[in-house]
Amino acid sequence: MATFAASCCNAPEAKEDAAREAVLQNIANRKSVRSYTSEPVSDADIETLLRAAMAAPSAMNRQPWEFIVLNDRDTLDALAGKLRHAKMLENAPLAIVVCAETMLTLRDGQVVENMFWEHDASAATENLLLAAEALGLGAVWTAASDPERSAIICDALGITGTVKPLCVIPIGHPDGETQPKDKWKPEKIHWNRW
Ligand SMILES: Cc1cc2nc3c(=O)[nH]c(=O)nc-3n(C[C@H](O)[C@H](O)[C@H](O)COP(=O)(O)O)c2cc1C
Repeated sequence: MATFAASCCNAPEAKEDAAREAVLQNIANRKSVRSYTSEPVSDADIETLLRAAMAAPSAMNRQPWEFIVLNDRDTLDALAGKLRHAKMLENAPLAIVVCAETMLTLRDGQVVENMFWEHDASAATENLLLAAEALGLGAVWTAASDPERSAIICDALGITGTVKPLCVIPIGHPDGETQPKDKWKPEKIHWNRW
């Protein structure tokens, strides 16, 4: 009763508290999910994931990311066969490859390496993973930027030029329960100096 009275009389504040708690809970609940049912991911959910990814911060707001959405079974299976750390693609109905343009053109026309492309694509990736958690989907970040995996992925998906993949994210409806890990370690925190 007391709880009801509080939320009744402070409705806007209670709503804000609930929204804040929901966001923090979503961050705490995110976990890598590597088993999926065969249920497809809806187009609406795919758009939500991509909107979340593109809402990420990026250096100078350059937004160098590019996304390859994979829902073709043969393509997913072919990649699963070639990427030994991404075998879960075999049972994923969907994967999103987060890529980025690695070069940028300066105001004077000079073309230089975008040294922040991995940071930008990583921010987009984490946003996408958090959106997957919020939608009740399961997903996992699998590495793709090292030379060996990058070459395999570029070859399989026809990525050419200066665009590079950062990661492949298998996505689906979770098959079973996965618990989030508790990673809180106060000893990792350093105040004012090392
Ligand atoms: C840069 C990066 C690369 C990763 N590569 C892989 C991978 O190739 N295969 C995989 O199964 N998980 C991969 N992961 C997921 C990690 O194993 C996972 O995030 C870590 O074990 C913590 O678990 P959690 O995501 O459930 O909190 C990667 C994660 C990151 C951030």
